[in-house]
Amino acid sequence: MTTVEQSPPPSSQLRELVFGAARAAAVRAAARLGVADALDDVPMSAEELAAAVKTQPGTLRRLLRALVCQGVFTERPDGTFAHTEMSRLLREDDPNSLRYIALWCTEPWTWNVWPKLDEAVRDGGNVFQKVYGKEFFPYLNDDAPESAHVFNRAMTTSSSQSAKDVAKLLDLRGVTSVADIGGGQGHVVASLLEKHPALHGTLLDLPGVVENADPRLREGGALAGRVRIVAGDCREDIPVQADVYIIKNILEWDDESTRRALANVRAAARPGARVVVIENLVDDTPSMRFTTAMDLLLLLNVGGAKHTRQSMVDRLTAAGLVIGEIRPVNPYLHAFECTVPG
Ligand SMILES: C[S@@+](CC[C@H](N)C(=O)[O-])C[C@H]1O[C@@H](n2cnc3c(N)ncnc32)[C@H](O)[C@@H]1O
Repeated sequence: MTTVEQSPPPSSQLRELVFGAARAAAVRAAARLGVADALDDVPMSAEELAAAVKTQPGTLRRLLRALVCQGVFTERPDGTFAHTEMSRLLREDDPNSLRYIALWCTEPWTWNVWPKLDEAVRDGGNVFQKVYGKEFFPYLNDDAPESAHVFNRAMTTSSSQSAKDVAKLLDLRGVTSVADIGGGQGHVVASLLEKHPALHGTLLDLPGVVENADPRLREGGALAGRVRIVAGDCREDIPVQADVYIIKNILEWDDESTRRALANVRAAARPGARVVVIENLVDDTPSMRFTTAMDLLLLLNVGGAKHTRQSMVDRLTAAGLVIGEIRPVNPYLHAFECTVPG
């Protein structure tokens, strides 16, 4: 039976650390094979699971053994495998599923850019363009449809989990319109419109993203009558008038893109409009390992960064916004409430 090891000595810890790719690959393989989906509450043998997910039993057992060491699945004394809290999160139908986040963090392009981290640290910029010959988002939407799908599902997962928190936090009394800039498939807009029956909303994101907007917002959807969907590039133009602009997990790319996006919000917004910027902060998070890893991935793919409270304040101030309260949305996200000056 495979067991979870407790606190190995430093030499083992470092050896394990440099084999992190194997752990990420094991989780990815399990997610792609659908192992967690095939297993429900009844424990199964490796042979039964292999038949269900169409793999060789011997190699599936090896994969499971590697995962069990990390607490993903457990092996019982009779040699059958059962779910743990972590393995359940790989199920597509779990209400808190992280299946698409697991796939997103391990997509094929990530394996091509990680080896260039020393280069990115030395030069201080993104390496994606050098590896793929174009910017990250155009590559994703034009050349890697499967990765784009995974990305959009992963964003939807994290948005749907945080959208309710955003809806709870935002005081929209007296507000008639909101706009979500780079709002992905529109989970935040949909949550806000559902909570506030008189509110109108706009969702702006890249064409390939909004064409797969949340069904509630698309023609025939319950909220379609109160939403406008704009396909566009917020670094070029934000042709949207709203009382409140939401910019969530967007300003993590290169500084010039952040500068242009904020300048376009300022140009579009009337004096007194609110701009709510929502970000994970690398200096205020309960999950430092995840956030610092994402920070490095953002350096590699878009030349970006997870912000500190101060680096966010600096950019919002430089854009001429008046910063009000900075409040936690949930343990992972902070909202910077800003106003467009008169
Ligand atoms: C990290 S996701 C965040 C999505 C959403 N705001 C959320 O919090 O779930 C970044 C989003 O920015 C969008 N995006 C990237 N470049 C953009 C651009 N130039 N103009 C508008 N949206 C863009 C992506 O398509 C994606 O939906």
